[in-house]
Amino acid sequence: MRLLVLGGTKFLGRGVVEAALARGHEVTLFHRGRTNPGLFPEAEHLIGDRDGGLEPLRGRRWDAVVDPSGYVPRVVGAAADRLRDAVGHYTFVSSISVYARFDRPGLDEAAPVHTLEDPASEDVQAHYGALKVACEQAVAARFPGRSASIRAGLIVGPHDPSGRFPWWVDRVARGGELVAPAPPERPVQCVDARDLGAWMVRVAEQRTAGVFNATGPAAPLAFATWIETLRAVAGSDARAVWVPEATLLAHGVTPWTDLPLWSPLGHPDFAHIHAVDVSRAVAAGLTCRPMVETARDTLAWIRERGDFPMEMGPVGLSPEVEARVLAAARRG
Ligand SMILES: NC(=O)c1ccc[n+]([C@@H]2O[C@H](COP(=O)([O-])OP(=O)(O)OC[C@H]3O[C@@H](n4cnc5c(N)ncnc54)[C@H](OP(=O)(O)O)[C@@H]3O)[C@@H](O)[C@H]2O)c1
Repeated sequence: MRLLVLGGTKFLGRGVVEAALARGHEVTLFHRGRTNPGLFPEAEHLIGDRDGGLEPLRGRRWDAVVDPSGYVPRVVGAAADRLRDAVGHYTFVSSISVYARFDRPGLDEAAPVHTLEDPASEDVQAHYGALKVACEQAVAARFPGRSASIRAGLIVGPHDPSGRFPWWVDRVARGGELVAPAPPERPVQCVDARDLGAWMVRVAEQRTAGVFNATGPAAPLAFATWIETLRAVAGSDARAVWVPEATLLAHGVTPWTDLPLWSPLGHPDFAHIHAVDVSRAVAAGLTCRPMVETARDTLAWIRERGDFPMEMGPVGLSPEVEARVLAAARRG
């Protein structure tokens, strides 16, 4: 298959390109040449800007395109316009952030999504989910019956630019008592970028159409089991202290950023963000490697670099706040 990837050099797109090359596909990457230049010398690279600079795509044909770098409908629509007669199938990377509220476990693809109050807004920070919905619609309108919207959950693994999963891997590896959000049996969902990338290549190969929640694992994973996996991989003496949500909030611990992956079960809109229904993606072939592999490879990546990036802003509990919360938890 001749596969075009709009992006492909950072994290998830990288997983797509690696998988496509491993399966013997002819891969073309379209990007600005800024992020990790020199990556994938064995593939074709077209240098351009998807916001107003699509010229390098002119006159070319591909069997399929995977788009992990679309955030605003004007830009995604322009790529889809350019490619509608040149490409057989379009896979757009969306997000479970499209859903208006995670107020119950088992949210499926029919659940209500955000709408853009101002259709002209391109403020991705403020309207990430609503803009992804509009991007999905822009693609589906131009590729009727031959596009897939992949609503990814938290993406993890080596090269993660967010620091969210790497912070936990690093914190558990450092050992000692650490703050964990009670209760220990709360679920965790996340998907390795390499598994999601490989599955999207299959989606493109098979021209699978439709909308898919895409995260893992297929069977529920408890937060305690997840931390224990990180501990075993690091061989550390880390010990989770399960702190009630009320105590975390009373100490100003911000969900998702101060304590990555923690979404309060008491929150009306975000309670069940780690419990979406992935059965449609699993039926369409999504498989996830064991968490132990993701944890091991992420730790090796952090150790090789000596740190981990936090491109969207700082994440993780500071040692001072951690000490205060642990002391409060001991007092009961
Ligand atoms: N991280 C998560 O937990 C999570 C969860 C749900 C969904 N998602 C979605 O998953 C996707 C993650 O993608 P990724 O960043 O890992 O993809 P990626 O394809 O690995 O990296 C982004 C690529 O886009 C290129 N790019 C950026 N701006 C461009 C422009 N104006 N024109 C042309 N190329 C451009 C970059 O190269 P240059 O800079 O060289 O142009 C880079 O190659 C996003 O769609 C995100 O919304 C993420």
